[in-house]
Amino acid sequence: KNYIYFDEIDSTNLFAKRTKDLEDGTVILAESQTSGRGRNNRKWISPKNKGLYFSIVLKPDIENKDLSKLSLIFPIAVRDTLQKYISLQVFIKWPNDIYINNKKISGFLFETDIENNKISRIIAGIGININHSKDDLKDVQDIATSLKILQNKEFDRKEILNDILQKIEELYLDFDKYKDRLHQIVSENLLWKGEKIVIIENDKIIEEGILLNINQDGFATILTKKGIKYIYSGDLSIRK
Ligand code: BTN
Repeated sequence: KNYIYFDEIDSTNLFAKRTKDLEDGTVILAESQTSGRGRNNRKWISPKNKGLYFSIVLKPDIENKDLSKLSLIFPIAVRDTLQKYISLQVFIKWPNDIYINNKKISGFLFETDIENNKISRIIAGIGININHSKDDLKDVQDIATSLKILQNKEFDRKEILNDILQKIEELYLDFDKYKDRLHQIVSENLLWKGEKIVIIENDKIIEEGILLNINQDGFATILTKKGIKYIYSGDLSIRK
């Protein structure tokens, strides 16, 4: 495996995007990021020596339609690994955040390069709050947490990283074998399953109903007043 390590960088995803000659499976990791990025132009708080901030570059030979399935291997690997370190249940919030105690502990930023209508490269950016203190996360204290905040002790980030990478490798190398049951693994630990939720897109509620599961294409299955609907993307929120 190829590792590229930075003490500090703007963003491991940005580095991967601007560096075109990276091999399949390259892992770019940083102790801190000065402009860690989240989805929807949000930032990812990345204080030094506290979290895991890394990006994995993959050049898979897959059909474009399998991309949403492939993207499930990352939250599954992170969820299963974190569950080994904590007794509270670790949930996957569709499409791919990780939640513990109703707060976010990990997020994923996927970016793709397309050549001739085919995916030539996937950059999977993963951020996990490990040894962040409450103070590190004070700007997002109502919505975010860390392993340390939950367990009152420090964790070995290297050990956790190795576990996650091993799991990702296993799922990726045998993707053909796993791809048709990944949605079930996600459904087993799905946040808010069976609860009333709303799906928000561009600040508007586009759907509301009961979250049933994730279907084999990676879509959220919602029981609405008008029947079953399958949602491809959007932000999930709980009905208050
Ligand atoms: C999100 O939940 O909105 C996605 C967060 C992704 C954060 C990771 S940290 C490593 C990689 N580099 C970035 O700038 N972002 C991702």
